[in-house]
Amino acid sequence: MPVRSDAELIEHIFDLIDQQTTDMGDETWYEPVENYNSRERFEAERELMRRVPMGFCPVAALPEPGSYVARMAAGVPIVVVRDLEDNIRAFRNACRHRGMQLAEGAGCTKIFRCTYHGWAYRLDGRLEYVSQDHGFPELDKDTHGLVPVHDVTVKNGLVFVTQDEPVGEGALESLPDLLSDSQAIFASGESVTEINWKLQAEGTLEGYHIKHTHPESFFPYGFDNLNVIETQGPNIRICFPFRRIEKLRDVAPEARELGRTVTLVNHIFPGTSVTRLSDHYTVSFAEPEAPTRTRYYTYKLSPPTADGGAPSEDALQRARKDVAFLSDQGNKEDAKVVADIQAAIGSGANSHYTFGRFESGIVHLHQNLARYLDRLGDAEAQRIEIARA
Ligand code: FES
Ligand SMILES: [Fe+2]
Repeated sequence: MPVRSDAELIEHIFDLIDQQTTDMGDETWYEPVENYNSRERFEAERELMRRVPMGFCPVAALPEPGSYVARMAAGVPIVVVRDLEDNIRAFRNACRHRGMQLAEGAGCTKIFRCTYHGWAYRLDGRLEYVSQDHGFPELDKDTHGLVPVHDVTVKNGLVFVTQDEPVGEGALESLPDLLSDSQAIFASGESVTEINWKLQAEGTLEGYHIKHTHPESFFPYGFDNLNVIETQGPNIRICFPFRRIEKLRDVAPEARELGRTVTLVNHIFPGTSVTRLSDHYTVSFAEPEAPTRTRYYTYKLSPPTADGGAPSEDALQRARKDVAFLSDQGNKEDAKVVADIQAAIGSGANSHYTFGRFESGIVHLHQNLARYLDRLGDAEAQRIEIARA
């Protein structure tokens, strides 16, 4: 089901406010606690992340021919590059001589030259140059190009990388609108937290906690447990309205604009988040490094411009202010909650966590994760059967 249009969303928020309620799911979900710290589950999730399209970076991070982004993705070093013909390509970031990584971080280059012994690869992956090649008389250059991933797809402003034979379309089953071409990246970075990646995702997918966790930061501007929760394929969109949305009641429905009246969190299956805040967008990609450690690659983008052109200096300044407001108190409150939960996981108090009717966004994530992990199990069983035959 596609998500509501902006006008429908505003109308629905007014209904929720008037009825003093929130969107509710139709089932309670019990998630085993061991799924947040077991090595076996972690390995299965990471394999799944190699076998579905995974958000890798905003396409805005690859603005010109030669632009590249290199990072770990589900435990594998991957480099994504815009080649000279403007095709976006993704390769395993490893030299075909002795495996040195060829690119680091982000930048722009004409060629990937290995810093170990100098072999060089074109942006389309072909092995172009072998230093002192008389030392490798049997080497077939044509079969020693960079090794591409199974597939790379650019959609709705994101680059998706499918590393190995997919077990389904994943996020691309049905993808909401995310980013537009006129958005500029004004900051990027990475951070590591000692938590399971699902805990962090859960913290963004419900508004049941707003009043209690954020009494002085977010709650004064928002509502207590009042959210619109929509799903599209395995993806989830949750809307957190601000109280100032009430001003739109006086505006004719066809003239209403969402503007700065809501925060919209798009959780793109399984580990990407695209959040539309008042004056900027935050895009983050979870890279689980261990059952209880996750690295986040984060980009801050300006909002789209009305005419599709570059953002004004004013808009960029507002965007930076927006970032500063959030990174103060509210985010710290969320970080404390997830860190405390992770630290108490071994307490033995819970065999499972309970997600109620207000937490249906999280339920959707767990249901889809379970569905895809089942498919992965089926694919593995089939592989073993074929190998035996
Ligand atoms: S490992 Fe790259 S040239 Fe030797
Ligand atoms: Fe929160």
